[in-house]
Amino acid sequence: MLAGHAFTKPKSIAATARPGNPGIRSTRRMPAMRVLGIETSCDETGIAVYDTGRGLLAHALHSQVALHAAYGGVVPELASRDHVRRIVPLMRATLSDAGLTFAQLDAIAYTEGPGLAGALLVGASVAASLGYALGKPVIGVHHLEGHLLSPLLADPKPSFPFVALLVSGGHTQLFEVAGVGRYALLGDTLDDAAGEAFDKTAKLLGLPYPGGPALARLADAGGASRYRLPRPMIDSGDLDFSFSGLKTAVLTLVRREAGDRGIAALSPGSKADIAREFQAAVVDVLVTKAAMALDRTGHRQLVVAGGVGANLELRRRLTAEAERRGGRVYFPDIAFCTDNGAMIALAGALRLADDAGGGLGFGVRPRWALAEVPAAH
Ligand code: KG4
Ligand code: ZN
Repeated sequence: MLAGHAFTKPKSIAATARPGNPGIRSTRRMPAMRVLGIETSCDETGIAVYDTGRGLLAHALHSQVALHAAYGGVVPELASRDHVRRIVPLMRATLSDAGLTFAQLDAIAYTEGPGLAGALLVGASVAASLGYALGKPVIGVHHLEGHLLSPLLADPKPSFPFVALLVSGGHTQLFEVAGVGRYALLGDTLDDAAGEAFDKTAKLLGLPYPGGPALARLADAGGASRYRLPRPMIDSGDLDFSFSGLKTAVLTLVRREAGDRGIAALSPGSKADIAREFQAAVVDVLVTKAAMALDRTGHRQLVVAGGVGANLELRRRLTAEAERRGGRVYFPDIAFCTDNGAMIALAGALRLADDAGGGLGFGVRPRWALAEVPAAH
């Protein structure tokens, strides 16, 4: 059974891409370009090489999860220092996997924002130095644009236009995506993001950091319908979300069941049942609103991006809902749901192909709304 399986970020992965996704050049009359992607917006150093003719050539990731685990969250200064330590060896390993030298790259794409300022600066300064040394263009990519376009790395891939559900630790948003840089926001969370709700509730249940995958794993062991949690805003009639009340409802439920003794007094079975009901509540709301977005726009393709997209119960339910409408859901590979360099290399390549990026300048934008990203031509 698929339900409730969790994705645990690998500590470090390096892999060459599966053949199959042919890249994006088929739609453009231009020679194939090889773009290095650099992602350092938070606690993952992600590096990849994307070839506009052959697709993804190689990617590697170093996750800092173990580094931050003792603090229960990401410590910005530690994150920056670790990016500094990892980035050059990871770039060398990725290029070696791709069978390329630095000189064979055509452009460098990096995450310009949003994210942690110090962490972003590591990727930005490495990208700028490389671009300067190689005489190649440097493209600043919006992190969320990377997530939104990441399903284009899969085979088969969606075509524009589509509806995108972006569900990460910082965002829960529905977009109508008409093309590169043409993103219309359909709905947003009014408070906590879905991933944030997973993480906070996991903490409440005494689960280790990072909480989302741990909670999903626990939900797998739980049974149905012993507890009932609210489905916030499911009947609001709009496409917005709210998840902070759900976390409070779990807190109230734990207090009712365990009294002053707290979570430690709950049996493993009760904790698993609560986890399962929490996951069901979040998934019910996300699936209902994503289906509404398909109905309202008339589109048949739904793309899911961001870390919560790794949740297999969400995948199963969205797939069923889209199929019921004669539509289809596109998920990035699990490895490309959470932060990674491949999505940045791909977004950079699409910007390069469109000539909407380029130049030798660089900067970071720790706060940057996706609506400010220019449309591609
Ligand atoms: O996209 P992402 O890697 O980072 C950003 O927030 O940009 O997403 C991370 C979020 C975290 O909140 C994490 O708990 C959640 O995705 N997550 C999951 C699962 N795997 C990761 N949430 C639920 N189920 C999962 N299997
Ligand atoms: Zn992200």
